Amino acid sequence: MQNSIEPAALKKIETLRKKLHRHNYLYYVLDNPEISDAAYDRMMKELMELESAFPEFKSPDSPTARVGALPLDKFESVAHFVPMLSLDNGFSDSDIIDFDRRIKKLLNTEDAILYTVEPKLDGIAVELVYEDGRLTLASTRGDGFRGERITPNVKTIGSVPLLLQDTYEQTRPPLLEVRGEVFIGRQGFNRLNNQRLDQDLPPFANARNAAAGSLRQLDSTVTAKRPLEMFVYGVGRAFDFGVESHGEILAALKRLGFRINPLVRSGITIKEALDTYREFEEKRPLLPYDIDGMVIKVDNFSYQQLLGATSRSPRWAIAYKFKAEQETTRVLNIEVQVGRTGTLTPVAHLDPVNVGGVTVSRATLHNEDEIIRKDIRVGDTVFVQRAGDVIPEVVKVVESKRTGQETIFNMPKTCPVCGADTFRVKGEAATRCINITCPAQVKERIKHFASKGAFDIEGMGDKLINQLVDKGLISSYADIIGLSKDTLQALERMGPKSGENIINAIKKSKRITFKRFLYALGIRHVGEHVAGIIASRFKNIDSLADATPEDLASLEGIGPVVAESAVRFFRQDENRKALNKIMDSGVHVYFEGEKKQGAVSDKSFVLTGALESMTRSQAKKMIETAGGRVTGSVSRSTDYLVVGASPGSKLDQAKKLGVEIIDEAALLMYLKIQR
Ligand code: IVH
Repeated sequence: MQNSIEPAALKKIETLRKKLHRHNYLYYVLDNPEISDAAYDRMMKELMELESAFPEFKSPDSPTARVGALPLDKFESVAHFVPMLSLDNGFSDSDIIDFDRRIKKLLNTEDAILYTVEPKLDGIAVELVYEDGRLTLASTRGDGFRGERITPNVKTIGSVPLLLQDTYEQTRPPLLEVRGEVFIGRQGFNRLNNQRLDQDLPPFANARNAAAGSLRQLDSTVTAKRPLEMFVYGVGRAFDFGVESHGEILAALKRLGFRINPLVRSGITIKEALDTYREFEEKRPLLPYDIDGMVIKVDNFSYQQLLGATSRSPRWAIAYKFKAEQETTRVLNIEVQVGRTGTLTPVAHLDPVNVGGVTVSRATLHNEDEIIRKDIRVGDTVFVQRAGDVIPEVVKVVESKRTGQETIFNMPKTCPVCGADTFRVKGEAATRCINITCPAQVKERIKHFASKGAFDIEGMGDKLINQLVDKGLISSYADIIGLSKDTLQALERMGPKSGENIINAIKKSKRITFKRFLYALGIRHVGEHVAGIIASRFKNIDSLADATPEDLASLEGIGPVVAESAVRFFRQDENRKALNKIMDSGVHVYFEGEKKQGAVSDKSFVLTGALESMTRSQAKKMIETAGGRVTGSVSRSTDYLVVGASPGSKLDQAKKLGVEIIDEAALLMYLKIQR
């Protein structure tokens, strides 16, 4: 038996590997996926199962390596065959013009030198070694001569090819060392930090630290969960690419399956490089990752060779750094904001100052302890910093600028919004307002309830919520769902049309997943991530409401603090009342399992040709059960044409109208049916 199964299993394993390899490349490198995440996950799962059933077919470059491997005891030290050098820095146009002049002088030429410019990402430099087309070693830069072997960790990064493109069929370059920057993008960074906050873990100070911390995990399954990415920018030892410039090398690396930053420009003059610097400066705030400057490299290889390197850095390259995103300004005042959980956050109002292209007029001071630690006083001159997306903060006080006129700030003993007493829990940095009906808290809770990750009520913005609460029209989030058009129309600047839009948005929001619903409640420590974990284990609110802290803490990813907080929430009478009120106003909470049923809600389908696993009328029924519609002819409003064997003229019509054409397998996937 075994004999006939094995070749079949190997064949299946190989097919799956090849497919996953390709889809990985399409997704991470080309940013152009052809299949859904769910379909990818299913293939990966199937491959993992086959590999564990047939361990003899395991392979280090299988896509399953992306989920991480057994933990290491320590990182081994490995040598870089070609040292990983650093870069010289320039800080002004004249530094860069000097660099260009120096190069011409060293090369003894008057001709214009051509350059490649690349954004300088603020991450971690990594070397990848490919032997016979397979990734065999990945290491950190270390001191430039020796780094740490972090191969299992790097294999988890989607944009790092485990096999060079076309390795399956074609040439396998015997040796190739590729270098680049591993980083975490802004969105990934924010998500990661939110997850950490949910889990009561300290957040990372910036994306660079998050990337470094994620790469230096002995357990690569932890790394696999971190949103690491990689752009490559050069080579160490390499086979002969048969090209003459750095720009061409990057193009060749791209063909081999590496991700190259799309902002790279090649074959440009120094003047064009300076223009590109301005362009990068402008684009900087809009980029999905942090950059701290631009790298300018002499394009031509023979020039690079002639120029050589000092012990520290190549003479043919320079980093043109952006101006530091720190500026000095004055603290005009310190005000206190009250958040959703009653936390008082001191905020410095600053003399507006331009920090890295953005005007900053406020900076968070976090809490009382931070103010004391940094000794920030009203009237002080301070350094403010903006890092990536995060709220600007005060780094430190310039003490030499003190005049003696500064005043010390004290955390208020009463809430600046409702006047109730404030308190500090022992062991916590936060000062809180004791009054849970404090309008500031109420407003923030309602804003949270209506926000994107929660009920996502379009048009229910801050201003509207402030008005509704201030006028006494609502006093808790439980009142939102029951809002009437008349109530809304009593507000200033609210026409009948906008009132109606909001009522419709509320109606639409009433069908909500358990995860979003839980998140909307604003339970302390229950962010989106934790809500997801809880929702996947408790299938309804009643069973959750009756859970003990132990029940909750037994879930992976939920600590005792989170468990305690959730249980306390459901034990409070007023919260139970609010829950009942929400449910009574017709909210329908559905569970992830049910969502699959509604997977094609409101989508319209047309069927053509013979399907394999069902008749057309069965397909129609299935689509309708999942919330979709089936019509007889293709029009512009058709979402999908499902094509079976020997399709009719509907196929041409769909092509003409640009209607998406799917096959039976894709239909089943949309309907979330696994054969
Ligand atoms: S080239 C021989 N290109 O900057 C040239 N480096 O200060 C060595 N970096 O350790 C590096 N983006 O981590 C180069 N496009 C880029 C880069 C880049 C970021 C980092 C790299 C290096 C440091 C040098």
